Amino acid sequence: MKSPIRVAVTGAAGQIGYSLLFRIASGAMFGPEQPVILQLIEAPIEKAMKALEGVAMELDDCAFPLLKGIVMTDDPKVGFKDANWCLLVGAKPRGPGMERADLLKDNGRIFIAQGQIIDQVAADDARVAVVGNPANTNCMIAASQARRLTPDRFTAMVRLDQNRAQTQLAKKAGVDLTEVKNIFIYGNHSPTMFPAFAHATIGGKPAPVVINDAAWLQGPFCEIVGKRGAAIIAARGASSAASAANALVDHVRSLTTPGAIHSIAVKSNGTYGFDPNVWAGMPVKTTSPGSYEVITNYTMDDFAKSKLAATNKELVDERSFVAEMIK
Ligand code: NAD
Ligand code: LMR
Repeated sequence: MKSPIRVAVTGAAGQIGYSLLFRIASGAMFGPEQPVILQLIEAPIEKAMKALEGVAMELDDCAFPLLKGIVMTDDPKVGFKDANWCLLVGAKPRGPGMERADLLKDNGRIFIAQGQIIDQVAADDARVAVVGNPANTNCMIAASQARRLTPDRFTAMVRLDQNRAQTQLAKKAGVDLTEVKNIFIYGNHSPTMFPAFAHATIGGKPAPVVINDAAWLQGPFCEIVGKRGAAIIAARGASSAASAANALVDHVRSLTTPGAIHSIAVKSNGTYGFDPNVWAGMPVKTTSPGSYEVITNYTMDDFAKSKLAATNKELVDERSFVAEMIK
């Protein structure tokens, strides 16, 4: 048996936490051979800490063979101590009528403090994955506070958008979703994101050839994927949770599987024309567990270029909005 890794999860008593923790403890995220110690971090609120106790009781009651310990804390210095993976879920979700960027000032503060503490106390090989919205800019904020951990250690989740896009293409083409490959998400986890349909394949053929409906791909397809989060909030009165937790399992599983090709938001360093200092979704190939190289050779037509420019502008605007905070 391998030695356990330490997985810190913020917002552990929240909606996403309730779907996520059981998947991690069962081996879905790190594989059936990898024991884990869960370090569960909640806000210093009595109700949240009480709820966390209940979640921990349920984890115990699952008798997961891979779960080797549970830490429960409202002190991030304890929760992130020696963590190999820091999953930053804890943040306010938006309600009906809000955009994710409306959360920026409130949630941004959380990521300043967490970025600093992770940098001080997490393991040398620590990797950080951000889910709390607005995820790309929160990730940029956390990374801006780190001196020891390099920016490539900080990624934000756009995998839910990739999964959504894959399903929509499969439904439109009337095929099993496993036939859809190479659909990647560029830019912000917001309605401006760009699911680059021109590079996707369906049954090995280009998606635009199989679907043969450019107006649908450029219009309703991008819109459905970009506004899916709002559609879920309108339908269930709360933001997506089980699918978000599932996407985080996919994000980390792909990022720990050498050779996997998938979408994550990373410091752009200017790739695909993004501002070098924003965290933008793009395709990567995992090189070794936790490390990746960006796939840079996809060509963009004029439509794609205009979508990339719009999502880049939004990321730059979000960065300017918090510029004072991250000094
Ligand atoms: P929730 O309100 O159910 O849970 C959030 C939890 O975080 C709460 O238990 C709260 O007490 C805790 N929390 C707040 N501040 C904290 C702090 N400083 N440290 C630790 N814990 C803290 O929300 P949820 O539905 O689980 O969503 C969490 C976040 O994930 C939201 O911002 C939501 O918008 C976002 N989200 C992102 C995606 C994505 O694809 N990136 C998808 C779904 C949801
Ligand atoms: C989602 O995409 O479902 C989440 O980011 C929640 C939201 O606010 O849309």
